[in-house]
Amino acid sequence: MKRVFSGVQPTGNIHIGNYLGALKQFVELQDSNECIYCIVDMHSITVPQDPKILRKNILDVAALYLAVGLDPKKSIIFVQSDVPGHAELSWILMCNSYTGELSRMTQFKQKSKGSESAPTGLFTYPILMAADILLYDTDVVPVGNDQKQHIEITRDIAERINNKYGKTFIIPDGRFLKAGARIMSLDDPTSKMSKSAENIHSRISLLDDSNKIKKSIMKATTDSDGIVRFDIENKPGISNLLNIYSAFSGISINDIEKKYEGIGYGEFKKDLVSVVNDSISPIQKNFNEIRNSKELLDILRDGAERANAISEKTIKRVKDKFGLGL
Ligand code: TYM
Repeated sequence: MKRVFSGVQPTGNIHIGNYLGALKQFVELQDSNECIYCIVDMHSITVPQDPKILRKNILDVAALYLAVGLDPKKSIIFVQSDVPGHAELSWILMCNSYTGELSRMTQFKQKSKGSESAPTGLFTYPILMAADILLYDTDVVPVGNDQKQHIEITRDIAERINNKYGKTFIIPDGRFLKAGARIMSLDDPTSKMSKSAENIHSRISLLDDSNKIKKSIMKATTDSDGIVRFDIENKPGISNLLNIYSAFSGISINDIEKKYEGIGYGEFKKDLVSVVNDSISPIQKNFNEIRNSKELLDILRDGAERANAISEKTIKRVKDKFGLGL
């Protein structure tokens, strides 16, 4: 049995990119692996957060985890800041990483925009993520492919420490889905769908109502040749919609192309609205049932306890290797 770990930031607007790139894989993996899924609240404070909204968003993500089908009997589900080992290991890893490698992270470059007043946490963000993964002796990390660089630095740091101190960490592998590995923005299909983009029609959030979903899809940027064909280079908009259609319906892109041969984008988009709504509405129904239940808090408390038990063992092992403490 493999150990699987992944996390999602509680920053609101969890969208279909998060679902197809990550959450859907989480559910698929829980039947035949030992899975640990985290709500990474400490990552989210690398940018300013309103405490009340952050708390609400943490519970929203937890409820969405359950609503998409994660089962607390099969997976450990918990909030990152409830397990102190993440911050503890993070410091140790920080002392074994280089400012040069962190400066090369594209997410840091994008978010800091060269500013001298960017929070230090934004710079060391990948180290906390490495700590999340290595703390649980993780074999597999299911993520969207925007996280590739973060998985690579995690592997580099783990290998570096193993070489210096003897085998301390398992070297984890990323798991990226082909379809859905990168869902692009609906209004600008050359940039990834994001939780924070200003235009709400650039994304479909898992909690959007059906009218909003319809509007966002019908407005989605395509091109003027009217042919439903996958061509990322020349037709990024329609290719992104084909990706979404295929990932939700399970129909291959080839078969979808055939289905819409000689039929314009209007019809294709209308059907895509139904495909997306059919997948999302049961998730929303589950979400509404779970979100305000006492059970949700019990699941998170139990998850933190189980995660803590694993984390403490790793911290003890790492401290021994480094000669820290008594
Ligand atoms: P976050 O919260 O930005 O996103 C959660 C997951 O969704 C994936 N994702 C996407 N997949 C496809 N298309 C998109 N447009 C898209 N946007 C986001 C992300 O790849 C991710 O899998 N750093 C992570 C959180 C994290 C983590 C970890 C993940 C912290 N520690 C340890 C794995 C293991 C992040 O910001 O994800």
